[in-house]
Amino acid sequence: MESIPKTLCEGPIFVYALRSVTEAAARAAYDGIGRGDRPSVGRAAAEAMVSELSQLPVYGHVVVGEGETGWRMSTGDTVGDEGAGRRFDIAVDPVEGTSYLVRGMTNAMAVIALAPEGTLFDPGPAFYMEKFVVPPAAKGQIDPAAPVETKLKALSRILDKPVSELTVYVLEKPRHRELVERIHGAGARVALYPAGDVAGALMAAIPESGVDALMGTGGCREGLISACAIKALGGEFSARLAPQLATEKAAVARARLDTRTWHTVDDLVTSDEVYFSATGVTTGLLFEGVERTRHCEKTQSLLVAGPGGWRQLLTTFHPLDRAEV
Ligand code: FBP
Repeated sequence: MESIPKTLCEGPIFVYALRSVTEAAARAAYDGIGRGDRPSVGRAAAEAMVSELSQLPVYGHVVVGEGETGWRMSTGDTVGDEGAGRRFDIAVDPVEGTSYLVRGMTNAMAVIALAPEGTLFDPGPAFYMEKFVVPPAAKGQIDPAAPVETKLKALSRILDKPVSELTVYVLEKPRHRELVERIHGAGARVALYPAGDVAGALMAAIPESGVDALMGTGGCREGLISACAIKALGGEFSARLAPQLATEKAAVARARLDTRTWHTVDDLVTSDEVYFSATGVTTGLLFEGVERTRHCEKTQSLLVAGPGGWRQLLTTFHPLDRAEV
């Protein structure tokens, strides 16, 4: 471990090494596609991540991770060597979109984001947050608390596009019925997906991706993961805690967490140094899923590093031992 220079834990070279963590998780999750067994998929992907992370000279504290207690990569877990050169906060989802992946559906990925220790927002017992994501041109320009119609008008002006040409990514959930009606009422398009708001948030922050904004309520963990990538990409990720479940509401109230304040991407991730790696398990909006042939497994990963917004889409061919086939 000592022989690895500390500089390998910085910049694009580090996120290139980090890709092995999400590649391993995606490959571990592949066998669970369409088999209905959610716990096995999550656990296998989390174990694969820990094993790869322990090869890197880093020590990490999982600020938001798996919800299951006792699992590796769960919130509060630590990974790596405590004496390692670099110490990070981690936001991780070994399989983002697990419930859909086990039903054989698309848009599942293994994803991890790292920022220096003490620089990631801790949502405590909150599970859900309301999110508003826009591309770099609109960073800091639109009040996330404003009515939907006002936000769309402002975005239209900033992007120099009629509202009718704006596309808003929204998770297809009963809680979003009114939101969708209002977006339609304002004349914009809605891209409705049953799951996967990390992909939606990234698309909203990447100009010309086909998605101009993300609105609605989703997981805090997925939010913080996205916020890390968006911080590097220069977009805006605004969020406020928005507990949905009765037990979550009670826990958030007990912890005296503020559910009114909208936080900016710079509040959620205070460091400019961020690393993000995501690998497709099933094919989605940003990259392809794992493909297994007789000789190899092919993976596609999106890597993002900040400061600077360095971004790479990487296809890797992993040779298979014939005994594995
Ligand atoms: P899973 O990995 O648990 O299937 O969740 C995927 C996801 O769609 C996230 O992208 C999103 O943030 C969250 O679930 C929304 O939660 P819910 O489905 O409970 O509304």
